[in-house]
Amino acid sequence: MELKKQSIAIAGGGSTFTPGIIMMLLENLEIFPIRQIKFYDNDPERQKQIADACEIILKERAPEITFVATTDPETAFTDIDFVMAHIRVGKYAMREKDEKIPLKYGVIGQETCGPGGIAYGMRSIGGVLELVDYMEQYSPDAWMLNYSNPAAIVAEATRKLRPNSKIINICDMPVGIEHRMAEILGMKSRKELSIRYYGLNHFGWWTDIRDKDGNDLMPAIQKHVKEHGYLTPAELEGKGNEEVEASWVHTFGKAKEVYPLDPKTLPNTYLKYYLFPQDEVEKANPEYTRANEVMDHREKMVFGECNRIAQLGTAVNSELETDDHASYIVDLARAIAYNTKERMLLIVPNNGAISNFDPTAMVEIPCIVGSNGPEPLVQGEIPRFQKGLMEQQVAVEKLVVEAWEEGSYQKLWQALTVSRIVPNARVAKNILDDFIAVNTEFWPTLN
Ligand code: NAD
Ligand code: G6P
Ligand code: MN
Repeated sequence: MELKKQSIAIAGGGSTFTPGIIMMLLENLEIFPIRQIKFYDNDPERQKQIADACEIILKERAPEITFVATTDPETAFTDIDFVMAHIRVGKYAMREKDEKIPLKYGVIGQETCGPGGIAYGMRSIGGVLELVDYMEQYSPDAWMLNYSNPAAIVAEATRKLRPNSKIINICDMPVGIEHRMAEILGMKSRKELSIRYYGLNHFGWWTDIRDKDGNDLMPAIQKHVKEHGYLTPAELEGKGNEEVEASWVHTFGKAKEVYPLDPKTLPNTYLKYYLFPQDEVEKANPEYTRANEVMDHREKMVFGECNRIAQLGTAVNSELETDDHASYIVDLARAIAYNTKERMLLIVPNNGAISNFDPTAMVEIPCIVGSNGPEPLVQGEIPRFQKGLMEQQVAVEKLVVEAWEEGSYQKLWQALTVSRIVPNARVAKNILDDFIAVNTEFWPTLN
């Protein structure tokens, strides 16, 4: 049977991840055929640089695909099957502030965790809800696959404020770690692994990992993680992928300190921010954070290469690479478009899947995905250690959404105070007041 051709809107067309997604979509056209791609962004100059290069790439490699880049919501969201959303409200300039303001008070600032993630969440909620509303207005049957961060807070906001919308929130970190697990085991692909996992976004644990024959792979991975974290054998020999930056290498190695807290499981790398926040502060340079690193490396590389392609008028010798981690997005879109019943880790309402946990929490758990969306798989009861940590973190995420909705200074102060990463309520208030001063353009007014 011939597969129906899809029409895709990429929201955040000017993202550094857009070219990698386009290359990835091009590589998957046989299993996920596309008739139209539209880029949407609210920064025309930024988007144009990426769009001009992508237009050339598409013309050269798949001329049958119609391509449009626009800042007009009606043009972007009309006649669409999927919206793939990766926006960053406030861009890197604001990410830099999210990271540097907490550091002034000796607190780690990070894109999605702790106070940095809270500030970013207060900006993202409005931006993502706006995309959902455009989609529903112009293509009511479409699905939004959202990976705009902070995914945990965005997911809670869409659950609460747009409960009937067809939006699925997803993260590539588990997929990225599973890729490393496969490498550690000497297996060809992460797709050979069958996993059980539970948690919140950037806050979870694997409880079971098997190969397709059902053999338990946990002991072998745990043995490696205990010694080396998620560093791959190649990295340990100094022959790793040069594109993995030092800060990420540190993160993958740090997992060896996070792992022993519950040696029966395997942890998500982001738990380091919650369990060893002071270590991250010590390592951080308050003058040069991850935002600076990304602007100096990924942003320069991607925009430089796109501008070069546009100038040459050809991408034949392009250095732009497929973001193959991003292929999980195609798996998800295919599951919905063609009812493949793929098993995937998604951020969904708990609804009893973790039986001893808040049914209204947005949790990251395996789901079977078909044309009518995700069906979460029961993970049962979780231990007190994880339950305690997760309850505290869910309270933070829910308080942020309530603060945004009600314009409540009080609730945002409470959110910052509840975060494990913030040492006390006074520091929480100082950070909050500094955030408010720089976020007037993006946050609702707080009373
Ligand atoms: P980026 O700044 O390069 O790109 C974001 C784009 O969004 C910019 O072009 C910006 O102009 C645009 N934008 C901002 N607000 C908008 C709005 N309201 N409407 C439309 N467009 C808007 O950022 P990046 O580093 O490429 O990351 C993009 C996003 O993807 C971030 O949220 C990042 O955290 C997220 N991300 C998530 C995952 C995941 O696994 N969940 C993985 C990678 C990146
Ligand atoms: C991981 C996370 C994402 C995050 C991305 C990029 O893949 O899952 O949520 O956005 O890393 O982080 P970076 O610091 O490189 O922008
Ligand atoms: Mn993520």
